[in-house]
Amino acid sequence: MLGDGYHDVPDGKLAMVVTHLQMHAAAPTRAVSLPQGITLRQVTPTLDWYRDIFKRVGAQDWLWFGRLVMSDAELNAILTDPDMAFYTLSKDGQDEALLELDFRQPGECELAYFGLTSKLIGAGAGRYLMNHAIATAWAKPITRFHVHTCTIDSPQAVAFYIRSGFTPYRRQIEVADDPRLTGMLGRDAGPHVPIIG
Ligand SMILES: CC(C)(COP(=O)(O)OP(=O)(O)OC[C@H]1O[C@@H](n2cnc3c(N)ncnc32)[C@H](O)[C@@H]1OP(=O)(O)O)[C@@H](O)C(=O)NCCC(=O)NCCS
Repeated sequence: MLGDGYHDVPDGKLAMVVTHLQMHAAAPTRAVSLPQGITLRQVTPTLDWYRDIFKRVGAQDWLWFGRLVMSDAELNAILTDPDMAFYTLSKDGQDEALLELDFRQPGECELAYFGLTSKLIGAGAGRYLMNHAIATAWAKPITRFHVHTCTIDSPQAVAFYIRSGFTPYRRQIEVADDPRLTGMLGRDAGPHVPIIG
């Protein structure tokens, strides 16, 4: 039980407030078209493709580390699982987004990773990709679609998810090694979160 007040976080660690959100029926969506020159496709990911898009969407700017700490074998097991689905948006011949849907829990779908690189943010592509996520998730026999986001993700994320029809239902604190101090990411990653330690 976490008492009221301030709590020290050990040097070298990150601390995030995590918001969990869910929907229990397909949220209504407003149809939008993809911005000019952007295409959506489903991907059968290789380790190299996945690690590249994960870093460019989430690690460099937002300190995502969950998939980078995995061994080849651990990550490959996820990438080749028939209950996982991966999509991207491409522009000028380069992939610039990651949508990862996890159907491994029967009757549920987790929006495991969702994001765009800075080349696509703020152009309407995020709304298109979310519409696709909602349609793809609810095309399967699920009763819950859920996601979590934290305070070192984009500050736009929580409001974007709420506008998408997700309802916040749980808040947690996550403490983890700072990936810039373990050498996983460069010290220039995530400049919105200062390094302490
Ligand atoms: C969170 C995130 C996906 C939001 O994406 P975004 O680029 O801001 O989203 P969009 O520009 O598509 O949508 C924002 C709103 O502006 C509108 N919009 C913006 N530019 C537009 C344009 N040129 N034409 C039409 N609509 C536009 C969208 O329709 C949308 O409105 P709505 O939410 O009321 O439907 C994005 O900021 C991101 O990927 N961040 C980094 C990774 C991250 O933090 N992911 C979440 C972690 S869990």
